[in-house]
Amino acid sequence: MNIYLLNGPNLNRLGMREPDVYGRTTLGTLEKGLISFAGSLGIQLTAKQSNHEGDIIDWIHEAGEKADGIIINPAAFTHYSYAIRDAIASVDIPAVEVHISNVHKRESFRHVSVTAAVCEGQITGFGTDGYRLALHYFKGGDTDVQT
Ligand code: DQA
Repeated sequence: MNIYLLNGPNLNRLGMREPDVYGRTTLGTLEKGLISFAGSLGIQLTAKQSNHEGDIIDWIHEAGEKADGIIINPAAFTHYSYAIRDAIASVDIPAVEVHISNVHKRESFRHVSVTAAVCEGQITGFGTDGYRLALHYFKGGDTDVQT
């Protein structure tokens, strides 16, 4: 199984950026740990990060051709990018939305996700462990979620 891990804007600054909110783990360390954890579950993880909406859209399309699923933290794009939402809806593979912080405990603009409705589900507030939870979801292979 091949899963794309897509991180959006400012997540390249993990570890330095608001560490009280996002923790002290850098993106490099996080990606390395997740690739190895995914390997232990028999999942091949392709990790990418961009500060640019178009890159993320292109990678979602690419995942639709090459991968079995997407784990995406669209970061601030979560709250307003209809283009990323449409890209997720345009591919025939499941996506899981992850947020490191609990967006519902924070400013009201973060309570809205325009992307969650086209994902299988949203994991928010469990720190970087949220990415591992998403990998467990794919390992379980249960895409038949009741709505
Ligand atoms: C975030 C939450 C977003 O509101 C914020 O813009 C981010 C990170 C999170 O992982 O908690 O950049 O997606």
